[in-house]
Amino acid sequence: MRAVILIGGMGTRLRPFTVETPKPLLPVMNRPFLEYQFQVLSRHGVREVVLCTSYRAGTFRRAFGTGRRLGLKISYVRESIPLGTGGALKNAQSLLNGTTLVLNGDVLNAFNLGAFLKFHRARRAEISIALTRVKDPTLYGLVITDEKGMVRRFLEKPSWDEVVSNSINAGAYLFEPSVFTHLPQGKPYSLERGLFPERLAAGARIAGYVAPGYWIDIGSVEMYLQVHLDLLQGRTPFRPGPRARPFKNADGARVTAGAGTKAAPFVRFSGSVSLGSKVRIGRGAQLTDCVVLDGASIGDGARLERCIVGPKARVGTHAVLGPGTALAGGSLVGDYSQL
Ligand code: GTP
Repeated sequence: MRAVILIGGMGTRLRPFTVETPKPLLPVMNRPFLEYQFQVLSRHGVREVVLCTSYRAGTFRRAFGTGRRLGLKISYVRESIPLGTGGALKNAQSLLNGTTLVLNGDVLNAFNLGAFLKFHRARRAEISIALTRVKDPTLYGLVITDEKGMVRRFLEKPSWDEVVSNSINAGAYLFEPSVFTHLPQGKPYSLERGLFPERLAAGARIAGYVAPGYWIDIGSVEMYLQVHLDLLQGRTPFRPGPRARPFKNADGARVTAGAGTKAAPFVRFSGSVSLGSKVRIGRGAQLTDCVVLDGASIGDGARLERCIVGPKARVGTHAVLGPGTALAGGSLVGDYSQL
């Protein structure tokens, strides 16, 4: 079976980090985020992957090439204008045949593909949607299924009084080839807001598979930080790449770092901290549950908590970066600043 991954979005909610680097290529513990999802595909015997690109399309080919290094055969499809999730899939039709797995490129889903496929076939579904349960479904697309697992209703970003279930669209689908006849060619179209509700209204068989296991959507700064914390705390079945090594001065905290990263004396780490390569941390700095990307430097006595420091940013001495701070790559934070 072939997998299609939709990776053409602009990732506006994850700015400033997505201004230079598209969301699926953002580093997560020193490896591009998408490589974690590739691990899941490889584990389930999927070797052929089609990447649907639009925003900063060329960066993906430079990162993954033919896919050989990753044990995959990767093909690329490029949209000259963003076609949305449905238009992007239609654009890849000539590279696909049979039942196709479609994934959003900004989610990490440790699901069992064999079980998903079995569920899809048993229900003779045209489309199956993987679902995951979340505490706050108001931020996502809610999917309401009956006792047999068939979808009865879709609700995009419901208000709390509309929440009748906590199963949301997990951004992974199985499609039968007949679906392609319902996707328009060459114009923007959404799977979530177009195809799914339209096919449901037309009486098509759409199944909703509650996929157990780890799931995260890294679409926001908070979730981009969270995926690091989850990996560092061993809450996922994923392993970071060889470029993220346990850091020797970690003081009992969970800290990993890339090559050439150095911390001066009296640095205090707590919680979980991910450091890129060639990061410098000044004397007496304190870092709690945060991410510092490649080439950044943290001044003496600076304090960082639940924040992300972009590549090559410079944080001045005794500066304080509080929860939610997202410091753009290359920025300068003056000494004693408080963000
Ligand atoms: P935001 O701008 O922050 O909403 O992010 P986004 O642009 O990535 O949109 P969203 O999170 O809704 O997209 C879900 C998935 O679909 C992501 O993996 C996107 O890369 C992908 N996607 C969204 N729009 C397009 C598109 O026009 N073309 C392609 N190829 N993929 C898309």
